[in-house]
Amino acid sequence: MSRDTIHSCSRCGFRSGQWHGQCPACGEWNTLVEEARPRASGERARGRTGSTKHAGGRARPAPRPLREIGAAAAQRLSTGIGELDRVLGGGLVPGSLVLLGGSPGIGKSTLTNMALGHLARAGGRTLYVSGEESAEQVRLRAERLGPGALAVPILAETDLETVLEALAAEAPQACVIDSVQTLGAAELAGAPGSVGQVREVAAQIMELAKARAIAVILVGHVTKDGALAGPRVLEHLVDCVLQFEGERERPYRELRALKNRFGSTNEAGLFEMRQGGLVEVLDASARFVAEATRAPGSAVLAAMEGSRPLLVEVQALVAPSELEQPRRVVSGLDRNRLALVLAILHRHGRVATGGADVFVNVVGGVRVDEPGCDLAVALAVASASRAVPLSGTPRACFGELGLTGELRWVGHPERRLREAAKHGCREVIAPPGSGPGACEAQTLAQALALALPARAGRPHAVA
Ligand code: TYD
Ligand code: MG
Repeated sequence: MSRDTIHSCSRCGFRSGQWHGQCPACGEWNTLVEEARPRASGERARGRTGSTKHAGGRARPAPRPLREIGAAAAQRLSTGIGELDRVLGGGLVPGSLVLLGGSPGIGKSTLTNMALGHLARAGGRTLYVSGEESAEQVRLRAERLGPGALAVPILAETDLETVLEALAAEAPQACVIDSVQTLGAAELAGAPGSVGQVREVAAQIMELAKARAIAVILVGHVTKDGALAGPRVLEHLVDCVLQFEGERERPYRELRALKNRFGSTNEAGLFEMRQGGLVEVLDASARFVAEATRAPGSAVLAAMEGSRPLLVEVQALVAPSELEQPRRVVSGLDRNRLALVLAILHRHGRVATGGADVFVNVVGGVRVDEPGCDLAVALAVASASRAVPLSGTPRACFGELGLTGELRWVGHPERRLREAAKHGCREVIAPPGSGPGACEAQTLAQALALALPARAGRPHAVA
């Protein structure tokens, strides 16, 4: 343990010179993390940013009314990747920190390398810091990404101090740190990637980035269960948190903003991993509708991806289970939502799946995180359970299910309907109030009657 470090509780903030398994202040276990000892005031500011103005006999700053604050519209840097710019809220903001999370192999290095490549090609100063791969490895990737990517200067380094010196000397407009878990401050004893290290690395880079107006993208790994393990502690510190998701075996990748100080967190961008890197998918609805199987268990959902409508196929499989607790497997949806929809289906739709394994998948590895998906899940499960395709296809649906079996209004019905019409879904089952063009159903039972007319003498089968 070095003299320059202290241990502080990540829960209550208690500080101690030595490590404790249990925090003496709040009693929580394993919350003490090693951090750099806070430096004397002014020391840090003088250190690298070169501003000595306030050191020593520092004048008390006077608060000013907001209207007197000059809000110079930040000149955003376009990354040349439309979907990335849109999710960022219009490009990178100088002096800001973006945390890009995603599981290994999803394409974080590819995306950031391409973004810097475009910037470099447009005459911007860039720097790619790789703590994970050697310069040769990064070059091999860049070769696949075209001439722009090869123009990006690289520094393969894991020592924080060296990286900060390079940043100060090069003064790039945009910089990528790949990844934040591989850099380490020598004065901290913890291994790179530990909570204390990750926090210190980000804090020091932020200080420099703000002073020099460098737009920084910190790449962070997430664990298998989706948590930004170390980097999660950075979420409050950075300006923007982007999550790159998708299944490694499938080509589609989705980029969403979980936090954004300079834009909306509703936006999502869709990419496809190809031989020459990531390609923006601009006609996603057309593809998903064309690929929809229309077999029993398939339903087309008119979803909203932020402010953009997207048609996706929801597939369900219902099969007799041999387990005492049947399986409920979802991909691209919230697991609890499925449990809720199954309960409503049972109670208000007379579709019982209690003794069956139920699998639900949003095709293409896309994630739909909105209440409007309920009806599509219910119809897909009912259709699978009865082994009958939904009638009247091409047809789409959307709507939230209430606990009493009613179909509830969801946002932007007109955009959903327009998108469905554009891609040949002439009939759209939707909640009341959705407007002209919708085939409105008041309840789940009505929606089921529309989509799966019961054959005479054959009630909704129970799996
Ligand atoms: P990478 O950007 O290295 O992922 P991350 O930094 O998130 O760990 O991308 C890894 C995968 O992408 C790898 O399996 C190879 C694939 N890939 C392509 O299919 N095409 C390409 O042009 C590139 C560069 C990578
Ligand atoms: Mg990588």
